[in-house]
Amino acid sequence: MKMISDEMNGGLNEQITSEFHAAHTYLAMACKLDSMGLGMLSKWFRHHASEERAHGMKIVDYIGEVGGTVALDTIPKPTGDYAGIEAIVQAALDHELEVTRQINALVGLAEEQKDYATRGFLQWFVDEQIEEVATVGEVLNLVKMAEGRNLLQVEARVAKMLAPTH
Ligand code: FEO
Repeated sequence: MKMISDEMNGGLNEQITSEFHAAHTYLAMACKLDSMGLGMLSKWFRHHASEERAHGMKIVDYIGEVGGTVALDTIPKPTGDYAGIEAIVQAALDHELEVTRQINALVGLAEEQKDYATRGFLQWFVDEQIEEVATVGEVLNLVKMAEGRNLLQVEARVAKMLAPTH
C-alpha cells in the first residue's frame, strides 16, 4: 500500500538525485585533489562521496518501505574546473547548504501534509546536515588559514579527522 503522496514521493526522488549528484561531485573533487598531490584531502572527499551515496540509498529504501515508486533521474555532470583548493572546499560547502535547504523543504512538505512517518524519517537528514555543514566548514577554515602555504599541515589535520575515534 502506498503510504506517501505523489508530491512527497516526487520530492524524495529529487532528493535521491541530489544526493547522488553530491557523491559524483565529491568524487570528481577527490580526483582533482589527488592530481594536486593532496592525498588526505582527496581521501576525505572520497569518503564523503561514499556517504552521499549511502544517503541516496537510504531514501531509495524508505520509498520502498512506504510503497512509493523510485524514479532515478540523470545525474548532472560534475564541474571539473576549480581555481584551487579553497574553491573546491567552498563549492562543497555551498553544495551542503543547498542540500540543507532541500531537506528543510521536504520537512516542510511532510509537516504540511501531516505525513509524520516521512517527517520522522527526515529527522536523520536534518541532524546529518548539521554535522556535514560543520565538518566541511572546518575543512574550509583549515584551507583558508593555510593560505596556500601550509598545505601539509592541512593534510595532517584532515588525516586526524579521518582516523577512527575508537
Ligand atoms: Fe547528503 Fe551531504 O548531503
